[in-house]
Amino acid sequence: MYNTIGVIGLGVMGSNIALNMASKGEQVAVYNYTRDLTDQLVAELDGQSIHPYYEIQEFVKSLETPRKIFLMVTAGKPIDSVITSLLPHLETGDIIMDGGNSHYEDTERRYDELKSKGFSYVGIGISGGEVGALKGPSIMPGGDKDAYEKVAPILTKIAAKVNDDPCCTYIGPKGAGHFVKMVHNGIEYADMQLIAEAYTFLREKLHLEVNEIADIFETWNQGELKSYLIEITAEILRKKDEVTGLPLIDVILDKAGQKGTGKWTSMQAIDNGIPASIITESLFARYISALKEERVNAENILTGPENVQQKLDKNEWIDYIRQALYMGKVCAYAQGFTQYKMSSELNGWDLPLKDIALIFRGGCIIRAEFLNVISEAYQVQPNLANLLISPYFAEKVTGYQVGLRKVVCEGINSGISFPSLSASLSYYDSYRTGISNANLLQAQRDYFGAHTYERRDLAGVFHTNWQ
Ligand code: 6PG
Repeated sequence: MYNTIGVIGLGVMGSNIALNMASKGEQVAVYNYTRDLTDQLVAELDGQSIHPYYEIQEFVKSLETPRKIFLMVTAGKPIDSVITSLLPHLETGDIIMDGGNSHYEDTERRYDELKSKGFSYVGIGISGGEVGALKGPSIMPGGDKDAYEKVAPILTKIAAKVNDDPCCTYIGPKGAGHFVKMVHNGIEYADMQLIAEAYTFLREKLHLEVNEIADIFETWNQGELKSYLIEITAEILRKKDEVTGLPLIDVILDKAGQKGTGKWTSMQAIDNGIPASIITESLFARYISALKEERVNAENILTGPENVQQKLDKNEWIDYIRQALYMGKVCAYAQGFTQYKMSSELNGWDLPLKDIALIFRGGCIIRAEFLNVISEAYQVQPNLANLLISPYFAEKVTGYQVGLRKVVCEGINSGISFPSLSASLSYYDSYRTGISNANLLQAQRDYFGAHTYERRDLAGVFHTNWQ
């Protein structure tokens, strides 16, 4: 009997995807470049239909045709080497899928190379971490539609389900799936940073204990802020350090890492004239956090505002922070979805925004209750310019800007940095400004560089002799 699918790369994510596939009735061939990880997986098997191979040729031969090979290999060069080692053993029509966090432009290059050789390449964004991979991730496949249709029965089976709907949908051609995953991660960076800032306010301005803050996050998770990241934040805050007995959060070093997808999101936005300030501020917040030693040194040199310790009403301010966080999240998702819309137009991808919001409701890291409303907004207006102006969110943020403004102003007056909440407010205010100060920028550009400008009252391009 032939295996129905093959998985290459048996790190935690790859092993869990293989186990997930086997649990859904697939016959799974597995292969890893070094045999240790294969042996480790085999040792943990408990009757699942997973079949190990130690030679790539044997692995490929064991698969039914057209072969479906799922790569769960570290993004970058390792993917290219695996493809090179697979090529001599493949037959026309075979399908390679890449389920890692590959850069979408690498996926486009690989797609073209493989297509010219008669193979299909499906770049698949997968979100949900280790547990998601095992129990059901959110799946964002891009490539040729007909290739997707051949692998769709397996992908939809292993995906997370929300009301029985699989969190997997065809995203678009070539690298579109990996593009959507990349921006998902950019939104993830923003969402995480916004939550961290809300936590800071509760802790430093309202002087609440970590446990009380956990209670607040738990309560928020029962309302319109309901989301995976809010839920895990409450759990994180409850965790005690086994060594000191302190809240674990208090012994974790305040230096954030990153693996690149948030940076790629900002870079793509910058390259294409797409405003992604909240995502980018969230990325920069990680960079500044990494300068731990410099920050500790600067704390003794630089001063903030005089400490005007005015007592804030606890319940009133907890609600302002809730509003600020909700509105920050809406602005961050609005930026991410604008990035989808503008990039879709630039690349002719025809990204299904309504469906992307739907498949983000389960399995992925940014899963959140309000994705239902985001999806509805695009269902009613497929060409919606910005989520902020959809009737639902326009009304919501009109009320919640009050909380966001209060929190940002209080933060600024206290000398506490709230980069992503501030960026959200600036984005909101600049997006709703019909007449901006860019006229002065245009005049300056024309003054020193004869770059010309347009006028409000006359058509055409003008230059003034300013001196
Ligand atoms: C997911 C996550 C996942 C991951 C990234 C981001 O959707 O499952 O986004 O892809 O956690 O590696 O991590 P960094 O914060 O390290 O960039």
